[in-house]
Amino acid sequence: MDVMDAIENRRSYRALAPVEITDEMVSKMARATSLAPSCFNKQPWRLIFIRSREMLARMHGALSDGNEWARDGSMLIVVISKNKLDCVIREREYYLFDTGMAIGQLMLMAVEMGLVTHAMAGFSPGKTREILGIPEDMDVVTVIAVGKRSAEKTANISDDDWAVEDIRPARFEFPEYAYQERYS
Ligand SMILES: Cc1cc2nc3c(=O)[nH]c(=O)nc-3n(C[C@H](O)[C@H](O)[C@H](O)COP(=O)(O)O)c2cc1C
Repeated sequence: MDVMDAIENRRSYRALAPVEITDEMVSKMARATSLAPSCFNKQPWRLIFIRSREMLARMHGALSDGNEWARDGSMLIVVISKNKLDCVIREREYYLFDTGMAIGQLMLMAVEMGLVTHAMAGFSPGKTREILGIPEDMDVVTVIAVGKRSAEKTANISDDDWAVEDIRPARFEFPEYAYQERYS
């Protein structure tokens, strides 16, 4: 798949249908992540892939109200990191930047495999730590729901979310976020 096609086709859909996620698919997503650039090649990202019915059910209890749609997915990826795993240059901490770039690559790889990935900030880091045994000094950066796009309304998507499922959220126009030659 062409890179721009993958970028255009990636959407944070909420209507997720079950899909078998094989070890090979997990390996490809991990590989796409690991090939990302990072400061001094520090590779600060750590991923926990969750596919078992039991662990998915437990993790669903850590999601915030409004993210019930994620219960229809077939995998969760918990992304963790900490500032000490990457460059800290004076006040500049690079771990979130590098982890975000790497996850962007994972998401595009997932598109090519016909999967939806949907990052969430709406979860409890405390419950996630407890369920997964994540040490206190690691930041739980995001939890990503993975599934297959459903053409039909799913069990756990709200009416409001379903109504806008096909509409890509608006983006800023070029001059609002990108400048030429100088800040403006
Ligand atoms: C860090 C992050 C946190 C997000 N948190 C949530 C969330 O908790 N619940 C949700 O439904 N969508 C969440 N989203 C999805 C965004 O709303 C979505 O990416 C944005 O509206 C752009 O839509 P698109 O990804 O379909 O292009 C999150 C996305 C990111 C990157």
